[in-house]
Amino acid sequence: MKTYLVTGGCGFIGVNLVTRLTALGARVRVLDNLSLGKRGDIEPFGVDLLVGDIRDTVAIRKACEGVDVVVHLAAHTRVIESVSDPALNFEINALGTLNVLLACRDAGVKKVIFASTGGAILGEQEPPVHEDMVPRPVSAYGAGKLAGEAYCSAFFGSYGLNTVALRFSNVYGPWSYHKGSVVAQFLRNLMQGEPLIVYGDGTQTRDFVYVDDLVEAILLADRAETPGEVFQIASGIETSILTLLQAIKVAIPEVALDVQFRPSRAGEISRNYANIDKARRRLGFNPKTELHQGLVTTWKWFKEHTAKDDAKKDAKPRVEHVGNKA
Ligand SMILES: NC(=O)c1ccc[n+]([C@@H]2O[C@H](COP(=O)([O-])OP(=O)(O)OC[C@H]3O[C@@H](n4cnc5c(N)ncnc54)[C@H](O)[C@@H]3O)[C@@H](O)[C@H]2O)c1
Repeated sequence: MKTYLVTGGCGFIGVNLVTRLTALGARVRVLDNLSLGKRGDIEPFGVDLLVGDIRDTVAIRKACEGVDVVVHLAAHTRVIESVSDPALNFEINALGTLNVLLACRDAGVKKVIFASTGGAILGEQEPPVHEDMVPRPVSAYGAGKLAGEAYCSAFFGSYGLNTVALRFSNVYGPWSYHKGSVVAQFLRNLMQGEPLIVYGDGTQTRDFVYVDDLVEAILLADRAETPGEVFQIASGIETSILTLLQAIKVAIPEVALDVQFRPSRAGEISRNYANIDKARRRLGFNPKTELHQGLVTTWKWFKEHTAKDDAKKDAKPRVEHVGNKA
């Protein structure tokens, strides 16, 4: 059984991935600076948590020792904040990814799976977006992820490091309570009895992929031999915000929606969904979760999560602080 390092493993996608990997019997180590993720969220899985930062070369080198596969999720994930502070985003997403790749190369890691993004890298393009389009990021977040992809390709080309970049669309599901993405935001506001804010007129579209399907894509990418390649990982379905609101109404009939409209925000694209033919063909990716079912499961988790929060306060994971920024 392989040893995995999940950077950012205490975050939304990280906890879902760690849950799956440990259920499969893998050895898992997590490197997270706990800027957003919480140690208590991975405590039940008995993984090794290294508290450290990917900007810190000492921390990332220690984390990569003896590891077979690195799933690099740690990132500055907020598109709007990347517009106001592009330098911080560069440090974490571009330079941080370079640090991870250097450490992987030097530690002899066999595979690196990089969490990239579809919409933000490609910018305003006629959807469905696909891997052959010329990227035109409209935010620093998109630019930083594109740099990460470029380094992944370069590290395969120059050093033979087996990298693969997965361009996630808009991911939703359990453990997303802290996220600023639209599904999490809407469900959190519903929980708190607050209005659902729509920026723009609601006709803007996204491609919502359920987190279990996304985790499956990561496992498929781990098994496939596709060094240096890029894949769109999405549902392949275009959904407007107005359609999402309607789906929430049906999935969560017990709560009345108070929807309010505000002007659109800089850095956000108007239409986005992905063509996932390449991932279907080369990885065997086949997303199964329909929006309705995904929303029902996510809402159930959101309701249970607040109740469990108190229980987590006494959690004691195996924690080590590594590097200079921990
Ligand atoms: N959630 C989505 O819809 C989505 C879409 C496209 C791409 N992605 C990418 O997937 C990855 C995971 O996203 P997520 O939604 O789980 O995000 P998240 O914010 O929930 O998790 C990120 C984790 O990384 C940690 N982290 C942040 N900066 C760090 C640093 N400098 N050093 C070490 N740890 C750090 C945080 O504490 C957090 O636990 C990210 O790279 C993100 O850009 C996510």
